[in-house]
Amino acid sequence: MIELRDITKIYTRGSVTFTALKDISFNINKGDYCTVVGSSGAGKSTLLNIIAGLVHPDSGNIYYNRSDIYQQKAGDLNNYRRKRLGFVFQQFYLMPYLTVAENIRLACHNKQHAGKLDFYLGKFSLSGMGNKYPSELSVGEKQRTAFIRAIISEPEMLLADEPAGNLDPGNRSVLMNLIGEYHKNGGTVILVTHDPSMSEHSNISITLEKGMIQNNTMRVPSTQK
Ligand SMILES: Nc1ncnc2c1ncn2[C@@H]1O[C@H](COP(=O)(O)OP(=O)(O)OP(=O)(O)O)[C@@H](O)[C@H]1O
Ligand SMILES: [Mg+2]
Repeated sequence: MIELRDITKIYTRGSVTFTALKDISFNINKGDYCTVVGSSGAGKSTLLNIIAGLVHPDSGNIYYNRSDIYQQKAGDLNNYRRKRLGFVFQQFYLMPYLTVAENIRLACHNKQHAGKLDFYLGKFSLSGMGNKYPSELSVGEKQRTAFIRAIISEPEMLLADEPAGNLDPGNRSVLMNLIGEYHKNGGTVILVTHDPSMSEHSNISITLEKGMIQNNTMRVPSTQK
């Protein structure tokens, strides 16, 4: 489904360069549940942003269903981001001038998706907060809003960058169950996490250190679980 071949990303500021990812290669198949772990600065967010079609690598290729996402037309890349992916950003990136409900509706492709808004708000104890603006929310409320926005359109692939980083145990468990359900229904998950208990459900675990893969553990194929 997703194939990374020798991905390298170098950040440059003036004459200073920093290699954030070096020669990263791995495959993710449909239905896989992959966790990405590693210390702060290891390159996890950079990797997720590259897979999401948001940050161009300096070299290497990423294939989605055998087509190189960075070699295709801009319209196709937008389509890939919008129609195939749900993305939970580490910094949430909610639209400040839109309410919680409007932020989430922006990600809905049809009335069926939008019809699930109240269900998700209820699940995450956000009922009655649909008309609030992001600046009026706690960090955990923003994170839950960002998660609903990512999952409501039932994307083929869910990319989530520390999606439970600011959640209390109750909401964390709701989020884990929703990711589990999404995965059981055939969704593909790539999850960045510092939390070992979130890796329990994964069949692939990638450890990044200083921009390089330390191990790439393939567990039981998720379809056999
Ligand atoms: N736009 C940028 N310009 C320059 N350096 C950057 C940029 N973005 C990230 N970096 C650097 O690249 C490295 C990897 O950053 P990245 O955000 O991918 O790490 P991370 O593994 O997600 O860390 P964390 O766990 O703290 O979120 C870091 O050392 C960071 O300082
Ligand atoms: Mg990060």
